Amino acid sequence: MMSGSHSGVTTLDLRLAPMAAVTNAPFRLVSRECGAGLLTSEEIDARALVQGNGHTVALARFLPEEHPIAMQLLGSDPDVLAEAARRLEAAGADRIDLNMGCPVAKIVAKGQGAALMRDPLAAALILRALRKAVGVPVTIKIRGGWDGRTVNAVEIAQLAESEGVDAITVHPRTRSQQFSGLAPWAIIGAVVDAVRISVTGNGDVRSHDDARAMIRATGCAAVMIGRGALGAPWIFTGRAVSRAEQAQIIRRHSALIEAHLDPRTALVQLKKHLAWYANGLPFAARIRAELFAAPSAAAVSDAFWRLW
Ligand SMILES: Cc1cc2nc3c(=O)[nH]c(=O)nc-3n(C[C@H](O)[C@H](O)[C@H](O)COP(=O)(O)O)c2cc1C
Repeated sequence: MMSGSHSGVTTLDLRLAPMAAVTNAPFRLVSRECGAGLLTSEEIDARALVQGNGHTVALARFLPEEHPIAMQLLGSDPDVLAEAARRLEAAGADRIDLNMGCPVAKIVAKGQGAALMRDPLAAALILRALRKAVGVPVTIKIRGGWDGRTVNAVEIAQLAESEGVDAITVHPRTRSQQFSGLAPWAIIGAVVDAVRISVTGNGDVRSHDDARAMIRATGCAAVMIGRGALGAPWIFTGRAVSRAEQAQIIRRHSALIEAHLDPRTALVQLKKHLAWYANGLPFAARIRAELFAAPSAAAVSDAFWRLW
């Protein structure tokens, strides 16, 4: 069930989950340098991209070292999604991923994200349009279903396969569950059994043991990690990482943030990520308070390294 091999050692195919306002180019690249496989952008509003919204266009940028990278689109209009996908393919995206899981009320109210789980016809029309629009693989990221009474991940996965979708990621909680309870991995296994295309499992993986357990339990081809990588991109190395190495990774991540984001975004991202790196440390609360009060990137870094 494991894939990939290096010097005869079998490795897990671990992937970074898309996380809005978190998995920008610096965090993706640092995750890749730690060993993450396929990267995925955070969700990108297809309409805003097509309209040339500056913020969205900036979100859709990625670095040459990030290949292979999937760009994830959020939307409900097949033509707009197709145009956005064409532009991303022209910009070098290796895959186009459709977001079918975002639970945010104002997103689902527009028929986007998780709303597509309860509208298979709309989903099919979108997937057909995407399939026609681009030559690169088209993938989807789905939930278990809309709510506990409408768990339909298998049906959606089969429909996607019949529309020519190349791979599926399953986060098996329903939209109503949001992040409550444990992710019901059995749903991932049911999707694996129901389709021939590659299935990536996602939900509550916090360690390599968890990843192996998910693969054993479900037969999924790859494992996607979201919250477990926050403040710990070294999860992708698959081994114990010394404090000195962690410090190196944090310094590298900080440098990438400053090099690749505009100064305002960089300051916000530095505070956010360094606060995650501080989690679990004896002075975490004090570090966080100092980080968030710091006025500049230099002051943020000073506050962090003084207490780290
Ligand atoms: C802050 C945050 C932002 C997220 N943004 C996205 C997103 O843009 N697109 C997406 O498909 N899923 C998004 N997700 C869901 C994650 O990709 C993932 O499915 C979920 O966190 C479960 O995996 P985990 O238990 O490993 O965190 C987000 C999750 C979090 C915590």
